[in-house]
Amino acid sequence: MANFPSRLLSINNDESFVAPLNASTQTSENVQRMAHVERLIVELQMSDLRENALHVLSKWTGLFKELAPLLWNSFGTIVILLQEILSIFPNISMENLTAAQSTRVCNVLALFQCVASHSDTKMLFIEAKIPLYLYPFLQTTNKLPQFEHLRLASLGVIGALVKVSTKEVITFLLSSEIIPLCLCNMKIGKEVSKMVATFIIQKVLEDDDGLAYICATVERFFAVARVLDMVLKSIEKQHAPRLLKLIISCYSRLSDNHRAGIALTSCLPNVLTNDTFNNYLREDPTTWRLVEHLYENIGMNHVPLVPGGK
Ligand code: TRP
Repeated sequence: MANFPSRLLSINNDESFVAPLNASTQTSENVQRMAHVERLIVELQMSDLRENALHVLSKWTGLFKELAPLLWNSFGTIVILLQEILSIFPNISMENLTAAQSTRVCNVLALFQCVASHSDTKMLFIEAKIPLYLYPFLQTTNKLPQFEHLRLASLGVIGALVKVSTKEVITFLLSSEIIPLCLCNMKIGKEVSKMVATFIIQKVLEDDDGLAYICATVERFFAVARVLDMVLKSIEKQHAPRLLKLIISCYSRLSDNHRAGIALTSCLPNVLTNDTFNNYLREDPTTWRLVEHLYENIGMNHVPLVPGGK
């Protein structure tokens, strides 16, 4: 425990001494949890205990709200997590990553995802430019599961950053060229990876600067439109309503840009103007409204898709 600055030990002794006899079990559970998590964080420092500590801590991310600031502020923790990431870079470039190595780094990425989600640590995480360390994983194209898992876990971290995004987050991601990486993952990833990568693009597009960035050149616009089209084709015969919704949301938002709207009049995929997805849209009024918005923007005056129709 010597490594912890005292401000981290929020359970201070005085408090527990004066706690009333009937202090809620909730509180004592929290105290126990905190002690357990703190012990695990200390164990990260010890190479022989680290793998297990990473495994257990990664399971705590959704359960223990204050894990992110604890990870960020405890001595040496972030450096150790970064070292773990760097340690597999040679395996990434030689494409000889084992499943065990991948799992271990995926646990690290789960902890980074927790830091990226928490409002107290998100900006510190960005300012330290830690997402850049994940980009080499996102650049891999190997189809083996250990690589796919690593890509998905990395996308999860970026997804957590944009879930409640700020201008700074978007600016950082655009300037570090996340878009082509997402497009690549939409092309080669399995359905969940496709979904997280599309979610990131959708959140970028939601931002005015993000939309302007993607529509700034013909090449950028068509790079995005081409991949949206590919994903749409890949889910035509599959039940993937959440991915469909994200894709439609991207098209709809793109059409808010004047030039992109004009381009879409000639390159909107047929499946969005015929009845291919009618069954889904009938059950999802929100997505249906996105389709209507898209039609409106591109001046399609007939409505070939009819919610509630055949
Ligand atoms: N450097 C490229 C550019 O600025 C990055 C890029 C590649 C890109 N493909 C893209 C950006 C697609 C937006 C969309 O254009």
